[in-house]
Amino acid sequence: MIGRALLLLASLVALSARGDNPPQLVERYAAVAGQDDPAFTGFSAARGHDFYFDKHVLPGVGAVSCASCHLDDPRLPIRAHRAEVLCRACHVINETEHPDPEHAKKRHIQPFAPAANPERFRDFDKTERYFDVNCRMLLKRPCSALEKGDLIVWLLTLSAE
Ligand code: HEC
Ligand code: HEC
Repeated sequence: MIGRALLLLASLVALSARGDNPPQLVERYAAVAGQDDPAFTGFSAARGHDFYFDKHVLPGVGAVSCASCHLDDPRLPIRAHRAEVLCRACHVINETEHPDPEHAKKRHIQPFAPAANPERFRDFDKTERYFDVNCRMLLKRPCSALEKGDLIVWLLTLSAE
């Protein structure tokens, strides 16, 4: 029992040693959003929800939203060829389509929502890399700090089932 408790403690310490957590990322984006727009008063989960489901037309693919790869319910995991997600989530067409093309093809993609996947939004640089690729793919521009903060704030409202 004590051994287990120590192990748990050790993994908690390891997690916190990595520095970032989702609320800290939200704070960082809030600082930038405030610089972008002095009238910024805070993020909105409702805007984040709409942003997640907004559709963008990709030539040859169709109308695509964040939900096309992260699922309508972002608390769910993805198993290769068992979930309705865009093939390019794992089958990368060219290097610009994935921040880490070598590791793109995997059998499982873990849930997007932090409640279902404690590894999410814990590494600012990783989060930025993925925002960059996915926003350029769908919106043809980088996402603003407002959009990023709204999205994470909405995801944080989703509780584990
Ligand atoms: C073509 C499929 C696809 C689409 C569309 C897509 N993503 Fe992703 N996204 C991925 C994959 C694959 C990963 C990496 C999976 C993993 O980390 O397990 C990822 C990871 C991320 C991460 C990293 C999160 C973290 O810190 O762990 C962010 C942020 C992200 N996506 C944002 C978005 C946003 C915003 C949109 C909509 C504008 C979007 N994605 C649309 C495939 C996609
Ligand atoms: C969650 C990630 C994921 C998604 C999404 C995905 N695949 Fe795959 N796919 C894989 C993995 C992993 C393999 C096995 C590759 C291996 O073992 O080397 C694979 C293999 C394949 C193969 C066998 C040939 C090969 O490259 O090994 C085909 C064909 C294929 N996928 C088609 C599709 C199509 C079509 C879609 C979209 C409808 C799709 N896949 C979506 C992960 C995925």
